[in-house]
Amino acid sequence: MKWFAFVMMVVGCLARAEEVSPVVIGRKIFMDTSLSQPVGQGCVSCHDPKAAFADARRVSPGAVNERKGRRNAPTLMYAALIPPIAAEDFYDEEGELIYVLEGGLFLDGRAHDQFEQVQMPFFNKDEMNLSGPADLADRIRKSEYASDFKKLVGGKVWGNDGKLVDQVYHSLVAFLREPMFRPFNARIDDFWKGDVKALNDSELRGLALFQSKAGCAQCHPLGVGTWPEPLLSDFGYDNLGAPSLGEEDPGLGGVSGRKNEMGQFRSPTLRNIALTAPYLHNGSIKTLKEVMEFYNKRDVEPERWGKTDFPETVNHDDMGDLKLTDQEVDDLVALMHTFTDKNLLEMKEGDELPKTPEGVPSTESRKAFFQNRPRLVDPKAKQRVPEEKVDE
Ligand code: HEC
Ligand code: HEC
Repeated sequence: MKWFAFVMMVVGCLARAEEVSPVVIGRKIFMDTSLSQPVGQGCVSCHDPKAAFADARRVSPGAVNERKGRRNAPTLMYAALIPPIAAEDFYDEEGELIYVLEGGLFLDGRAHDQFEQVQMPFFNKDEMNLSGPADLADRIRKSEYASDFKKLVGGKVWGNDGKLVDQVYHSLVAFLREPMFRPFNARIDDFWKGDVKALNDSELRGLALFQSKAGCAQCHPLGVGTWPEPLLSDFGYDNLGAPSLGEEDPGLGGVSGRKNEMGQFRSPTLRNIALTAPYLHNGSIKTLKEVMEFYNKRDVEPERWGKTDFPETVNHDDMGDLKLTDQEVDDLVALMHTFTDKNLLEMKEGDELPKTPEGVPSTESRKAFFQNRPRLVDPKAKQRVPEEKVDE
């Protein structure tokens, strides 16, 4: 029976060798709750797979008791497809050249791209609260997947704090690009692929409104942009006038320092929106129906919504008084429920992560898209935007 043991050993080795990859390590890091101070918190603690990798709590508690941020954790579905922050220049109606910022990670775009973003939660005092890269590298060396990770990166990298944490970030980025996070298998996708029966009458009315009277598609476009399927976001920034919760949050303006961008946040994808309550950057609105009532009547019944942090930059042109009937509000809400991916809906009790449906292109086959994303910070990206004059 010696040959049998030998074959099993070879098979075992092959399976192992196949198993270890940046994606596999990235997944383990994502789930690991020993990479926080005190231990107990990982990425997955605030990005819950069952809530489309968002957080159902208004704000997530940090690793340290009593500490918390001021924003609602957003979905990680499709987050790898958010383009790096860049200034788009175009001519406005008066023929003047203007610049607007688009893309960037975090709701205020303060991380240039995904590679820069994944580093930050580890060292954020309100999140995982590690003291620095050496602390992270130490914990990685003591992790359960240490030997696999070491094999993957080699001894030289393993012993070097800076190089090792670089591989940590690289692995997390690889994991977030996985097809599981970008299945495009919601009912709306079936409809777009030609299954005209995929939507009912109310949803179809919602879809028509979304592109006309309600004006949603201006900022949550249904057309194809940087990716072959619609992402339902233009990644632009706007101030919706979200109800204030006491603590001011300047959003993009806090990053750029420009007054006209105070209170602006990046337009989110609406994919899986039915799973990611509560809503808006501060989680101030609990249900999709209320979000629609807010868009519809914010300016008609201001007393219902109370104060907002930066009233002077609120967008009054595209929302606030949409004159939608109650039925139309319901139709838009119904439409948004068709944006939920089936791999999330099919998750069962005890499933750690959602499955990947068949036929989703691999990251490798989309290399051109991902390679075009600059990996490191381009410090000029933000400086290209000229200071705009603010009338006071
Ligand atoms: C304590 C809760 C918490 C932990 C832990 C946490 N996050 Fe987050 N995450 C958030 C919040 C809140 C935001 C939004 C913050 C902002 O915009 O300033 C966010 C934003 C993000 C974004 C940006 C999404 C977008 O639309 O721009 C990504 C990607 C992300 N987190 C990935 C991770 C990864 C990877 C980890 C683990 C290394 C992690 N998060 C750990 C709460 C958390
Ligand atoms: C002018 C651009 C613009 C238009 C038009 C617009 N949105 Fe938005 N939308 C945004 C921005 C920006 C945010 C994020 C605001 C924030 O977090 O403070 C947002 C947030 C949302 C959210 C909450 C997302 C979340 O994750 O919390 C929903 C739901 C939503 N929009 C749906 C719609 C619908 C439906 C319409 C049409 C009635 C619409 N939007 C029209 C820009 C727009």
